[in-house]
Amino acid sequence: MKNIVVLVSGGGTNLQALIDASERGEIENGRISCVVSSNPNAYAIERAKKHNIDYAVIRRKDYKSLDSYDEALTALLLEKKADLVVLAGFMTILGDKVIKQFENRMINIHPSLIPSFCGAGFYGLKVHEAALARGVKVTGATVHFVNEICDGGPIILQKAVEISDDDTAETLQRKVMEQAEWKILPKAVSLFCSEKISVQGGRTIIKD
Ligand code: GAR
Repeated sequence: MKNIVVLVSGGGTNLQALIDASERGEIENGRISCVVSSNPNAYAIERAKKHNIDYAVIRRKDYKSLDSYDEALTALLLEKKADLVVLAGFMTILGDKVIKQFENRMINIHPSLIPSFCGAGFYGLKVHEAALARGVKVTGATVHFVNEICDGGPIILQKAVEISDDDTAETLQRKVMEQAEWKILPKAVSLFCSEKISVQGGRTIIKD
C-alpha cells in the first residue's frame, strides 16, 4: 500500500474527490495517509479531520528563506513516509530540494489544458479569467508530474471542457472542477499507486 500525502491551501474539493474515490475503493494500492496544509484555516483541514486523516500545517511565512522552508517541507514529507505527494490546490512555491527528492513521485492538478494558461502567475480563478479573455472555446484540466519548471513536468492525464458564451470565471472554475479535475486526479493517483505510469524522455506512458 502506497502512502499518499496531499498538499492543500484552500477549500480542498480535489482532496475531497480523492477521499471519496478512496472510500469507494477506486484508488488501487494507495491510502491517503496525511494532508499537509500551507494555511491553518484551510477548509481542507476540516475535510481531513472528518475522515480521521492525519494532518499537518506548514506555513511559508514561518521560514526566513525558501531554502529553510524547502528543508522543512522535505523533512516533513519524509517523516510522513510519503510514496506519492499530490499538490491539490497547493499555492506555495516549492524549492528545488523537495522537487528533486520526489522526482516522478509528485503530481499536480492544474485547471487548464497545459501548455495553455499555465506557468508563473496562473493559479485558481486567474487561469479561467485568462481563458475567457482569450476567447478559447475549450479548456480543461491537466494532471502532471512536478519538475523544476512551473507546470512544465510530464503530463499524465488531461480532460477537455467546453466553454459557453455565458460562462464567468466562477462558473467555468466549477465546470472544470466537476467535469475534469475531480475525475482525472483520482484516476492519475490510482494509476500511479498501481505502478502503471512510466516516464520516458519527458513523456509519460500509461499501461492500462
Ligand atoms: C483547483 O481548481 C486547482 O486546479 C487549482 O486550485 C483549485 C483548488 O481548489 N490549482 C491551481 O491553480 C494550481 N496552479 P480545491 O482547494 O477546492 O481543490
